[in-house]
Amino acid sequence: MPAKRGTTQWTRPIRSKRSDSTWTIRAAEESDAGAIATIYAPYVQSTAISFEIEPPTMETMALRISRTLETHPWLVAGRGGEVLGYAYASTHRERAAYRWTVDTTIYVAAAAHRRGIGRVLYRALLDTLRGQGFQSAFAEIVLPNPGSIRLHESLGFKRIGVHEDIGFKLGRWHDIEYWKLGLADASAPPSEPVPFSTYVRTPAFAAVLVQRSQCGNRCKT
Ligand SMILES: CC(C)(COP(=O)(O)OP(=O)(O)OC[C@H]1O[C@@H](n2cnc3c(N)ncnc32)[C@H](O)[C@@H]1OP(=O)(O)O)[C@@H](O)C(=O)NCCC(=O)NCCS
Repeated sequence: MPAKRGTTQWTRPIRSKRSDSTWTIRAAEESDAGAIATIYAPYVQSTAISFEIEPPTMETMALRISRTLETHPWLVAGRGGEVLGYAYASTHRERAAYRWTVDTTIYVAAAAHRRGIGRVLYRALLDTLRGQGFQSAFAEIVLPNPGSIRLHESLGFKRIGVHEDIGFKLGRWHDIEYWKLGLADASAPPSEPVPFSTYVRTPAFAAVLVQRSQCGNRCKT
């Protein structure tokens, strides 16, 4: 079930001179699908950052959001009714032994870049994943993407290696660089991850959002 609006959000000032410029981070809802599809579409159409070729429709995006929210976090940064960016985690591989491992994804609307939204969204996502009991997060970065690499480095991700010529898009082959962040000490056996549909209603999730709101972009970790 999607998160209920109002139970899991916080507000903090954005680094802008505009007087109405505050933004919130909260769990995504299916009703964000149109705005999220609109943010994502230009990256699909004009770049190889995503290996999708056709931008997903609003209906497809709504399905992705609702399926993800059953198990994994999908967070949005928004101002009023506007969505400025989003970050989510998904299953790294389907087979059961992978269930403590996630892939992470983040997109911020081009007009809202370099305001600290990406870093705060990502930190809130990683805190949430730790709270749910996941073990490690992987990011796949299509090269070149210096902004994404800097962001992942600053969050503690470590470079694993490069798959060369792994995707063909916009008339040429592209490399993907793999990055990993450990989320917990490897202890055997681990507890089962808490599904996000449960975790979203816990005080721990509310605390993640409050904690991020307090330190914002000044957080050391
Ligand atoms: C990567 C992305 C999510 C960053 O979001 P953002 O809100 O602009 O990032 P922030 O303002 O929070 O910046 C956080 C840090 O990331 C790094 N960074 C972000 N954009 C950068 C850029 N264009 N060049 C170099 N470093 C950059 C910097 O270290 C920055 O810290 P600083 O501002 O203190 O120098 C955003 O550029 C984006 O959506 N890009 C397109 C989609 C994408 O590439 N997603 C990742 C796929 S792997």
